[in-house]
This record gives sequence, C-alpha cells and structure tokens, in this order.
Amino acid sequence: MELISRMMDGSIPYDPAGRCEPVVSGPGVRQEDKIERLKEVLLFEGCSRRQLRSVARIARVFDVAADTVITRAGEPGDEFFLLIDGTARVEVSADRHVLLPPGELFGEMSLLDGGPRSATVVAHTPVRLLVISRRNFARLLEDVPGLTQILLVTLSRRVRQAEERAERLRAASTGL
Ligand code: CMP
Repeated sequence: MELISRMMDGSIPYDPAGRCEPVVSGPGVRQEDKIERLKEVLLFEGCSRRQLRSVARIARVFDVAADTVITRAGEPGDEFFLLIDGTARVEVSADRHVLLPPGELFGEMSLLDGGPRSATVVAHTPVRLLVISRRNFARLLEDVPGLTQILLVTLSRRVRQAEERAERLRAASTGL
C-alpha cells in the first residue's frame, strides 16, 4: 500500500523515516487560513468561497521529501494528487520519465478506471501535495468548476505524448 494511503487511512500515524509529513491543520491553523492557501492554487481560481470551504474540508496537505515514491506502478491507487509546490517525476518506463511542475495533477487514472497505478511517481524535489481520497473524489469533481474538463484535457495530452513517443521509437527501430 502506498505511503500516503497508509497515512490517510490512519494505519500509520506518521512516517517514521520522515519522508512524508501531514501539513497540520490543528488548533493553530484555522479553516479560513486553509481556504486562503487554496485560493492561491490556480486550479481553484473559479471556486466560490463555499466551494473552497468544501474543498478545504476534504483535502489534506502533505510535505514529501525528495526521492520519496508517491505512487508505485502496478499497485492499487486510492488518492488523487495536486502538486502545490515542487516537481514530481513520472517514471513512464525504465528509461523515460516526465517531469510535472507545480499546478499539475496526477493519480487520476486509477481513480477514474479503478485499475492499478499506471506509473511510479517520485518526488523529484521536496514537494507539497494536496491529496484527495477516492471517497471524496466525486465530491471534488462536483465542487471545482471545470475540473472534469481539466482532467479530460490532461488525459488527452498524455495520450498524445505517449503516441508520439511510441511513433518515435517505431521510427528509430525501423531506421525510418
Ligand atoms: P495513476 O495511474 O493513477 O498513477 C500514476 C499517475 O502518473 C497516473 O495516474 C497519471 O496521473 C500519471 N501519468 C501516467 N502516465 C503519464 C504520462 N505519460 N505523462 C504524465 N503523467 C503520467
């Protein structure tokens, strides 16, 4: 089971190796402060205050150390991620990776089709992640205007890039 999944479902209260830390929303951090932080995330710019309040209730924020594996190819996946800060590395194959900058999302594929993780995703630098569990994903799609469309555009772009890569490999192997 993925590290963040275990922290989200409470099966481990914290990561003893310190790779992953929940950004505490304890007594010192008011819901209003969390909403102010969400307002800075591009994805949420079209959200009303009521919608942001709802997102703040279902989202958790984690700081993850560089080189930590966030999702592992072939494992079941139960969370959706939005990169708030830092860069993540998607290991598409043994010799190819894609870097995701802040503002990108990942982990949507397993939640949408129920299949295992399609790729291993690693924190390329220290990252701050907004994490939504499977049971709240449908709620997030309802609350954030345009998110479904952003997901479709992201998926289309990734399919197109994968096709182009496959084509380049085919051309290289046939010498064309
Ligand atoms: P999921 O399969 O749930 O977990 C791994 C994630 O990596 C996947 O969702 C996508 O969000 C992301 N991913 C997979 N393949 C690519 C790719 N070619 N380019 C960018 N991101 C990808």
